[in-house]
Amino acid sequence: MSAFGRRQAVTAVNALPGEKVLEVGVGTGLALPLYNKNKRITGIDLSEDMLERARQRVVREHLSNVDDLAEMDAEATIFEDNSFDIAVAMFVASVVPHPDALLKELKRVVRPGGHILFVNHFLAQDGLRLKVERAMASASRSLGWHPDFAIETLLPPEDMQRATIRPVPPLGLFTLVTLPQNKDT
Ligand SMILES: C[S@@+](CC[C@H](N)C(=O)[O-])C[C@H]1O[C@@H](n2cnc3c(N)ncnc32)[C@H](O)[C@@H]1O
Repeated sequence: MSAFGRRQAVTAVNALPGEKVLEVGVGTGLALPLYNKNKRITGIDLSEDMLERARQRVVREHLSNVDDLAEMDAEATIFEDNSFDIAVAMFVASVVPHPDALLKELKRVVRPGGHILFVNHFLAQDGLRLKVERAMASASRSLGWHPDFAIETLLPPEDMQRATIRPVPPLGLFTLVTLPQNKDT
């Protein structure tokens, strides 16, 4: 199922202006082959094991548009302000310890006029899915993800208003968030 979310997020990245893309929590690099060749990708992850597998993918699939894959905390990167046109986090926001720090850091490193994208599972707003996800929350540790991660945990009200938020087909279990970058927020 996550492949749909990944594909939707990278399709959105490919359609945006600007070439310098930061992918945080790049993992084994499953999304890397999906980027258009005119996008230059920097990937970071906390896990050196994941990064090693991503590096092997880059070699295996001749991904010449991947500039760097580096071990780094997405909540506190070494990049200068306004280094990227786009930052994208796929299935990462709900696994970092401080989603607010992640958002703050991505706002710092993306230039004004750029974009920040998230694809993630967020807690349903209502209905049966909300009940099921709340019930599953106690099993978060064994599931390895957080069924009760609410979008409001990531986005403050002003960003909720500015963002484009849409469910990812076919089932809508994941959500794609596109946040235009203003430096005054
Ligand atoms: C669920 S995986 C998603 C991987 C990839 N984005 C994908 O779609 O396949 C979450 C990834 O985030 C990484 N991660 C978790 N916390 C992180 C942090 N603070 N900084 C950078 N990467 C982090 C993990 O090591 C893992 O590779």
